[in-house]
Amino acid sequence: MRIEIATLFVDMCETVLDTSIIGRARRAGKLDIHCRDIRAYTLSKQGRVDDAPYGGGFGLVMQTEPIYRCYQSIVEDMGAKPHVIYMSPQGKPFTQQKAIELSKMDNICILCGHYEGVDQRVIDEIVDEEISIGDYVLTGGELAALVVVDAVGRLCEGVLADESCYTDESHYNGLLEYPQYTRPPEWMGRKVPEILFTGHHGNIDKWRRQKSLENTLNKRPDMLEKADLTPEDRAYLEEYRFRQQAQSGWREEE
Ligand code: ADE
Repeated sequence: MRIEIATLFVDMCETVLDTSIIGRARRAGKLDIHCRDIRAYTLSKQGRVDDAPYGGGFGLVMQTEPIYRCYQSIVEDMGAKPHVIYMSPQGKPFTQQKAIELSKMDNICILCGHYEGVDQRVIDEIVDEEISIGDYVLTGGELAALVVVDAVGRLCEGVLADESCYTDESHYNGLLEYPQYTRPPEWMGRKVPEILFTGHHGNIDKWRRQKSLENTLNKRPDMLEKADLTPEDRAYLEEYRFRQQAQSGWREEE
């Protein structure tokens, strides 16, 4: 997979992408990620990439030409038309499902807007989809693009040590993850659950599944409606809800 980020802030993107797991994967040749400076493609002698909006109004709008020329050079280098994403608060909400879908693509180009946005004509010409990372407005698309690259990059082959690093975690299977513990076995009077010391993997897996169901019910009950639950999961949730109700009933009586 190759990812190209078209941006006015290459240094900002490179700093993040050179760090931690994604940085290591890039250096090991597991991820092919490049940042392109849109400004390098302007024909303006002053290096201009933006201008005042037609019709008046606040701020500056990024012009079509530098973005389109940047895109053309990406297509040329990739030797194929990439899937083009425009980071925008108007886009579809980014989800783990979308990250999985993107991680299977060969070539992706992410366009980062700035100022008051990008001339609509270049969006209409080159963009395949708009993605938002949440219902709030950032100063530019870079932070959002980095979120997408991080979530997608870690799913690519050879980036994490083992596939179970992401198949067991929150959102991958439609549930939130179970709680994790490490040394020491007791801290501030709080003990690690006994079952995790037993070495019985069958029981540990069952306990983890149950904790995952409890976590999802307590923190994101909306996710349970879409989750792929077994009859055993449903029976456990019913029993857990019953236990919770009984406990709150006892507390009210006390
Ligand atoms: N650019 C500005 N705000 C954004 C958001 N919420 N998501 C994606 N791109 C953005």
